[in-house]
Amino acid sequence: MIRKIAVLTSGGDAPGMNACVRAVIRAGLARGIDMYVVYDGLKGLVEGHIEQVNKDFTQDIINRGGTIIRSARLPEFKDPKVSKRAASILQDFEIDALVGIGGDGTFRGLNDLAKNGIKVVGIPGTIDNDVGSTELTIGFSTALNTICECVDKLKDTSGSHQRCSLIEVMGRHCGDLALYAALAEGAEGVICVEHPLKEEVLFRKLRKMKAQNKNHAIIIVSENLLDINELAKKIEDETGFDTRTEVLGRLQRGGSPSAEDRVLAARMGAKSVDIVMSDDPTSKVIGVRGGQIIDLPIAEAVEMKHEHTHGLRDLIDLLQ
Ligand code: F6P
Repeated sequence: MIRKIAVLTSGGDAPGMNACVRAVIRAGLARGIDMYVVYDGLKGLVEGHIEQVNKDFTQDIINRGGTIIRSARLPEFKDPKVSKRAASILQDFEIDALVGIGGDGTFRGLNDLAKNGIKVVGIPGTIDNDVGSTELTIGFSTALNTICECVDKLKDTSGSHQRCSLIEVMGRHCGDLALYAALAEGAEGVICVEHPLKEEVLFRKLRKMKAQNKNHAIIIVSENLLDINELAKKIEDETGFDTRTEVLGRLQRGGSPSAEDRVLAARMGAKSVDIVMSDDPTSKVIGVRGGQIIDLPIAEAVEMKHEHTHGLRDLIDLLQ
């Protein structure tokens, strides 16, 4: 019988994490479960930062960015001694199941806890949308809107000064933020793992634009691929375009979650409690497939690679 459930957020924070914490806590309380939060992610779990909470804890957090139970990265969690210690802390608190909201690193940590006999449920929360077991993660929609707001503003000044703007966005090693932003902004170029840089093609295009008197351009670049300042210099030398670079950085992780992220967080949070309460003892992760909320065993999920949005790449090329 399930009496106590804990929830934590781990890895890079993402807008909508608070809405999801709220949903997990409220869905648990509604079923008469004692609800706990773990502060500071998997790191806090190892340190035993666990507290029982009631409904008041979840008041007025649905619209707040960040995560009120904080987050952290703990690479040492891979060490079997560390995950075993975390499992024994949960057992000391007599917690029957743990719900973890985060990206694939968090899911791997949760899987290690499952191997130590803890029932876990993983909910995908990261702006990167790079989790293999889901088509959509909590935080992606808000981060994309934030990028679009920034690019809209940059377009104004880039147009006024007839410049080329290179804008670096996050995503770790996944190009979804870059591809979606390029499509949403009608950008002149996008560079990401799924749409790699072909220098000559880019330079030719920019020269052609100049020749046709279109004197400003937006190029979206995924992080961790290349040095945008070096590329800007090359663009200037090769095309004559006055070029500036912008790194949007952690601004992309902040802000009030979009309605889409809040609704996704609510659906996934409530589902996590259903999974904990079910008779199936398997530890699971939650995802979205074809618009439906799905779940699958965590051991399987951590082996899955994110399917990139191939269709988008072709669409961007078509519409440029
Ligand atoms: O995973 C979210 C993310 O924002 C990535 O896009 C980025 O590469 C990374 O986190 C940055 O992490 P940190 O803030 O810990 O440096």
